[in-house]
Amino acid sequence: MVRIWGALCALLLSMGLAQAQEGAVAAGEALYEEHCATCHGERLRPTGAAPDLKNLTVEDRVKFETTVWNGRGQMPAWQGMITEDERAAIWAYIRSRAK
Ligand code: HEC
Repeated sequence: MVRIWGALCALLLSMGLAQAQEGAVAAGEALYEEHCATCHGERLRPTGAAPDLKNLTVEDRVKFETTVWNGRGQMPAWQGMITEDERAAIWAYIRSRAK
């Protein structure tokens, strides 16, 4: 009995995590289209005006976060414009579409 409960809990937990992840990706997609797509391209299709964010790798997370917060060159700073959760959602969306 204990074993069945353990397995059930593990299953429910992983379903919950997968759903939370999907939620973040969907939220991130909407935020991306609203704030970033004008320069970085709709649906992450690069326009040539700004770097292709699909080229970022898992290791680039810190670079992503600082660039988004502080801006760089033609890119505006987003600190104070979006929340940390929103930034994390955009990252989840980019990662879900990464090469
Ligand atoms: C006004 C146009 C513009 C908008 C809006 C914009 N960016 Fe950028 N972004 C740029 C440009 C241009 C660069 C390249 C900056 C440079 O290196 O000079 C850049 C660079 C970046 C980089 C660094 C990429 C790399 O390979 O080093 C990240 C990450 C990034 N942008 C994320 C975002 C996110 C997330 C958003 C939306 C919240 C966003 N940008 C909105 C123009 C924009």
